[in-house]
Amino acid sequence: MHSQDFSRDVIIIGAGAAGLMCAATAGYRGRSVLLLEHSNKIGRKILMSGGGRCNFTNLHNSPANYLSANAHFCKSALSRYPAARFIELVERHGIDYHEKTLGQLFCDVSSKEILQLLLTECDWAGVDVRTESSIYRIDKNSDGYRVKTSAGIWQCRSLVIATGGLSIPNGGATPFAYETARQFGLNVLPLQAALVPFTLQPRELDIFKPLSGVSHRIRARIGDAAFVENLLFTHRGLSGPAILQISSYWDPGGEVEIDLFPELDLLQWLGEQREARPRADIRTLLSQQMHKRVVQTFCDLWGFEGPINRFDGPQLAAVAEAFHRWVIKPAGTEGYRTAEVTRGGIDTDEVSSKTFEAKKAPGLYFIGECLDVTGHLGGHNFQFAWACGDAAGQYV
Ligand code: FDA
Repeated sequence: MHSQDFSRDVIIIGAGAAGLMCAATAGYRGRSVLLLEHSNKIGRKILMSGGGRCNFTNLHNSPANYLSANAHFCKSALSRYPAARFIELVERHGIDYHEKTLGQLFCDVSSKEILQLLLTECDWAGVDVRTESSIYRIDKNSDGYRVKTSAGIWQCRSLVIATGGLSIPNGGATPFAYETARQFGLNVLPLQAALVPFTLQPRELDIFKPLSGVSHRIRARIGDAAFVENLLFTHRGLSGPAILQISSYWDPGGEVEIDLFPELDLLQWLGEQREARPRADIRTLLSQQMHKRVVQTFCDLWGFEGPINRFDGPQLAAVAEAFHRWVIKPAGTEGYRTAEVTRGGIDTDEVSSKTFEAKKAPGLYFIGECLDVTGHLGGHNFQFAWACGDAAGQYV
């Protein structure tokens, strides 16, 4: 075959959310696009997402929903490709969806529909998609980039790295993007599992394991970051949306403050109960506000028992304080095995927020989760993937 057959305007490595979006956008611009995926399955995380229904975006998406060393970096792409643009695409493809909670949009039927949407767009845009293609080597040359793969040696003007982060290693995740960034002299900020359940110290696990499966609405807080959502007790520790959200702000060895009654002034309420039902047991009263087994566990832990009229003012204040400010020090997290995303990544100072091209390596682009941009739970990670895929797709 003539070497011409092995050349494309654009090569994109990684057929996930960002790579597929970038490929379709570039294809519609008339670029010849080759999309290479090393696994045998395209868009695996899209299929897994949202419990099989893909939480594909969020109505309230804004730059405030992202963690990054540079909070401004995501603004440009998100403003050019807001949630409304992806919703319009979903509607154009006739996919039914609904808002679950807090602006989170899910497919009515299946996340397969979102993957099919992207594959259809790639097909219409003339993208050449190839699975089971391993990348062996990348070299820069005068014509752009030379990519040695199991599907041959390819030449391109623009090379896009869209291989995602480290979460779910047995689902095809690799450190390829970080290694490629380092190969071209780009700084990579420390990586950590995020949107991930906490594990507990053995002593605390013994206490809370019997509550496995019980959930309760809390406020989880670290510094200025706070989330009021459910906590789920598990047989390994703590999970649920409030915990996943706050895990993105947690550093090993750190504490998390949990308010077990985020929407109630417990001291005032207990005072009212003491007036109304002086002989009622404090546990019986608290069980009106939270699962009986949770009340039992915490009251055993803190030694709260007996009729409420035996609690004087300071004692009642101590009960309220204990429930409003339960401080835990997680043993760790469940790690990349169950994390939804990777926090940290390629330093955004190294990449243009307009084009996603590496400042030190013209023609080389990085998009998606491999960048140091981590979204909150609720469709924000896909929204960033769509936005930067679209942005880079305009320039490659
Ligand atoms: P993504 O991981 O999607 O794609 C990377 C692709 O590159 C993969 O296909 C991978 O196989 C391929 N690849 C990796 N290494 C390679 C190599 N060396 N060579 C070639 N190809 C390679 N977000 C959200 O907004 N809403 C949600 O509902 C969910 N739900 C959810 C559930 C679960 C279980 C997980 C793990 C994650 C989520 N997320 C989510 C997060 C979301 O899936 C994630 O942020 C995006 O998929 C990131 O998109 P990317 O395209 O950057 O990477």
